[in-house]
Amino acid sequence: MCNSNSLERKTALITGCNRGIGKEILSLFVSEGASIIACVRKETPDFISFISELSLKYAVSIELLVFDISNEEEIKAAMKSLVQKKVKIDILVNNAGIATGAFLQMTSMKQLREVFQINFFSHVLITQLVSRIMLKEKKGCIINMGSIAGLENFAGYTAYGSSKAALMCFTKTIARELAPYNIRVNSIAPGLTDTGMAGQMEDKAWKEMVGRSDLNRLGDPKEIAELALFLASDKSSFITGQIIRADGGM
Ligand SMILES: NC(=O)c1ccc[n+]([C@@H]2O[C@H](COP(=O)([O-])OP(=O)(O)OC[C@H]3O[C@@H](n4cnc5c(N)ncnc54)[C@H](OP(=O)(O)O)[C@@H]3O)[C@@H](O)[C@H]2O)c1
Repeated sequence: MCNSNSLERKTALITGCNRGIGKEILSLFVSEGASIIACVRKETPDFISFISELSLKYAVSIELLVFDISNEEEIKAAMKSLVQKKVKIDILVNNAGIATGAFLQMTSMKQLREVFQINFFSHVLITQLVSRIMLKEKKGCIINMGSIAGLENFAGYTAYGSSKAALMCFTKTIARELAPYNIRVNSIAPGLTDTGMAGQMEDKAWKEMVGRSDLNRLGDPKEIAELALFLASDKSSFITGQIIRADGGM
């Protein structure tokens, strides 16, 4: 979709990039020349050796930033450390997330708050802090990982679907606020994609969800990463405030 090295001289901060869709975005961005601030909840030897190999292969810097996005103080401390080091961030990918499925009567307020903290509030806070860096540069690109669960009606998604709907509304709102500063903001709304998250679902539920798509299959995380690359690159320079579906046709 993009020329090689379309992200050369750009730095991308990606949350939840140790596995699933985030890991594919990390790998693709690196192969396109981006330096990365790789945000993960835990430092593991496997991930360290994965990013070390990638960094060597593509001769780019990959810096590890460890924090739990369910903890506001950890988010603030992590972002403060970037400001102190005067790190420039061109691309922010708010990707980390959790999925829960439960019918309304089975959804506790505690569970609802936990899902909103991880899928929505954390991203708002990270975006507030990172966009300050972008505002100074008068350029930037923000990608929020939404979901078709925030657009379509699926029973059992009171917490997850509502948190993703909030994130996608946030995308449109701040796209308008940040456009005067040359900062573009878009959301990707993936359909069911072949990661650990989809693996958690019961067979019946995921077959039903996949069956609603025209292509009648799971998405590959690489297909979502390709869309993220397009949105992060200058190829999409006239696109902002959009929710772009990658859902196999729903
Ligand atoms: N897969 C799908 O079908 C699908 C569909 C639509 C949208 N999405 C969205 O796409 C994004 C990526 O999902 P995925 O499918 O790649 O899921 P995944 O394989 O379950 O990965 C989720 C990522 O989020 C991180 N994360 C979760 N809670 C965290 C916390 N408290 N602090 C820091 N990191 C945390 C995980 O870190 P740990 O490894 O430490 O847990 C992991 O890196 C999510 O926002 C998800 O909602 C996925």
